[in-house]
Amino acid sequence: MEFDEVVRRRRMVRNYDPDRPVPADVLDKIVRHGLRAPSAGFSQGWGFLVLTEPADRDLYWSSTTEGAAVEPVWKGDWLTRMRNAPALIVCLANKSAYLDRYAQPDKGWTDKDEAHWPVPYWDIDTGFAALLMHLSAVDEGLGSCFFGLPVPTIAKFKDAFGVPEEFNPIGTLTVGYRAPDKKSPSLKRGHRPVDEVVHHGRWTAPDPSRSARAE
Ligand SMILES: Cc1cc2nc3c(=O)[nH]c(=O)nc-3n(C[C@H](O)[C@H](O)[C@H](O)COP(=O)(O)O)c2cc1C
Repeated sequence: MEFDEVVRRRRMVRNYDPDRPVPADVLDKIVRHGLRAPSAGFSQGWGFLVLTEPADRDLYWSSTTEGAAVEPVWKGDWLTRMRNAPALIVCLANKSAYLDRYAQPDKGWTDKDEAHWPVPYWDIDTGFAALLMHLSAVDEGLGSCFFGLPVPTIAKFKDAFGVPEEFNPIGTLTVGYRAPDKKSPSLKRGHRPVDEVVHHGRWTAPDPSRSARAE
């Protein structure tokens, strides 16, 4: 598929054919593409948990969707359809890998102070990798959806899968062959107009009253 087409066809898919597994070599290729993502200082402080066995997927869904503190938004019918996905890739970020990497002599933040970081690059880099996997799935004729984990379930999820303390799940990708889906109500918002979002040269047009005041 041409890259333009991959970008144009990309959308979050929330229903899958439960009887059609993703071939292991295809899933492996998708995951490996993600590992080509850029990362600050080439830290690569990410980790991915790939779940294809039904019992593992069941454990994922039970550990992340059950519990009194899970808000209703996590219990909608979109999640029921998501459970049809034959593969899940949980994307996890490791902040300490970045703090360690940037304490090295070529970076020099030996105090490991998080205040140096304009934004959490560990989360950004893991997100970049997730997007590459998402696009690779589209390129393979598959569907995929990135979605978050409810905060109150994160400890339970990590415990269930033996995830080390320093890794934090930033979200999960479902991957599989597409099945008839419902359109997300969010799509009613439409794409924001380019002119509203993209600014060339200056953020705002020059304000004539400002130059008048200066004279
Ligand atoms: C960080 C992030 C979190 C998201 N979380 C959810 C989610 O929890 N549930 C869901 O159905 N979609 C989720 N989405 C998908 C968005 O709803 C979707 O990208 C958006 O509505 C635009 O639709 P499109 O990607 O199909 O163009 C998430 C997307 C991103 C980037």
